[in-house]
Amino acid sequence: MTQTYSAYSIIQKKRDKEKLSKEEIQWFIQGMLDQTIADYQMSALLMAIYLCGMDIEETAHLTDAMLYSGKVLNFPEQHFIDKHSTGGVGDKATFILAPIAAACGVKVPMIAGRGLGHTGGTIDKIESIKGFKTDISLEEFEELLHTRGLVLIGQTKDIAPADKKIYSLRDVTATVESIPLITASIMSKKLAEGAKGIVMDIKTGNGAFMSKLSDAKKLAASIRKTGHRFDKNMMTMITDMSEPLGLAVGNALEVIESIETLKGRGPKDLTDLSVALAGGMIYLAGLSKTLKDGIKKAQAAIDDGSALEKFRELIKNQGGDVNVVDDYSLLPHTKNTVEVKAHKAGYITKMECTELGKHCVRLGGGRQTTSGVIDFAVGFVMNKKIGDKVAKGDVLMTIHCHDSQIAIAKEITHFVHTRDITISPAKPRAKKKLILEVHTQFAAKKKTTITKKKK
Ligand code: URA
Repeated sequence: MTQTYSAYSIIQKKRDKEKLSKEEIQWFIQGMLDQTIADYQMSALLMAIYLCGMDIEETAHLTDAMLYSGKVLNFPEQHFIDKHSTGGVGDKATFILAPIAAACGVKVPMIAGRGLGHTGGTIDKIESIKGFKTDISLEEFEELLHTRGLVLIGQTKDIAPADKKIYSLRDVTATVESIPLITASIMSKKLAEGAKGIVMDIKTGNGAFMSKLSDAKKLAASIRKTGHRFDKNMMTMITDMSEPLGLAVGNALEVIESIETLKGRGPKDLTDLSVALAGGMIYLAGLSKTLKDGIKKAQAAIDDGSALEKFRELIKNQGGDVNVVDDYSLLPHTKNTVEVKAHKAGYITKMECTELGKHCVRLGGGRQTTSGVIDFAVGFVMNKKIGDKVAKGDVLMTIHCHDSQIAIAKEITHFVHTRDITISPAKPRAKKKLILEVHTQFAAKKKTTITKKKK
């Protein structure tokens, strides 16, 4: 006899903290895709999962249901490596590390996401380059990957379509910060892309979805476990997100900062993290003996200009205007800027990083509804970072906004002064480490190496 299910009873079961079966999860995901289950029912289940959690087995079933909702590619050779970040504010590292890795011989099949909650999305950012196509067919994706070694597209209807739908619902229903939902979201699309190895940047700190280090560690373990089930080489790096990465926050502004970094003129934290993650990709690809050697090769690809050339190639291959690399005025920009000045002297000791990210969304740099349209030009640039000394009147950040947004800029200024940037009299003892922990595990060895640990 075939079992019949109802959306109501499955939502109720999860709401009451019961464990869902593989069949129930598959039935629900399929129903969402063929629209026999309404968005409001899916949203209710997402909230129930957010509040009550899922165990490892349920997470695995959810990942599988989302993974097999579309096509699954397979590039079994060791040098096909992908990278993904759990998301942060100003996180544009993909634009730097992907061309670096490609310049060093790694094949990079990248399917990236759009903005989620207070964090920006790689695809929204790259689309600020006029003409850049992120919705190419899977055939073209494979062709570009094999011939050019680097391809960057958005989620298609073919790859993990269940994630595409769930991702946009989570973005507007406050259901992002959940270990099972993040694991299934990331791993369904990463596994479907077929790379042999995956480098995961797991963010922690007050700008990350996993603000506590202990949760970031759990998420890292959950992601590694899922990767191992599919015989992938896995590296997880837990990295700090208690202030924006680099200085720029906002789509076109972040593209400019990425190009500057590829030219060797980027902020130190962004450069260091991008080089470390690219080094991880080179190492997982088997193109360096150690992670340290991978990092050296990655830095050399910035220094000799080969990574910048790869970025130009990427733009050209996908129909974008390559001239932006040398002329930033070709990118969307606002006429107006508003400076937020320090109202007292001291040292910057803390930032409310999520709140800063939300300011970019409010300006139009992110979506507030699933169908929201992105304004590529708006955002802000940090003039100071945690640990910096400031005098009264120094510029803390510069808001890029339109004439019609002066009132919003004033409100942001108020929040920066009263909540989002703390200025204290005493110098902070030590700046937080950027990379807190690295775990590497090659599929064949099934043994985890911890190469860095928080002191
Ligand atoms: N990135 C994703 O792809 N999914 C999440 O849930 C969070 C970050």
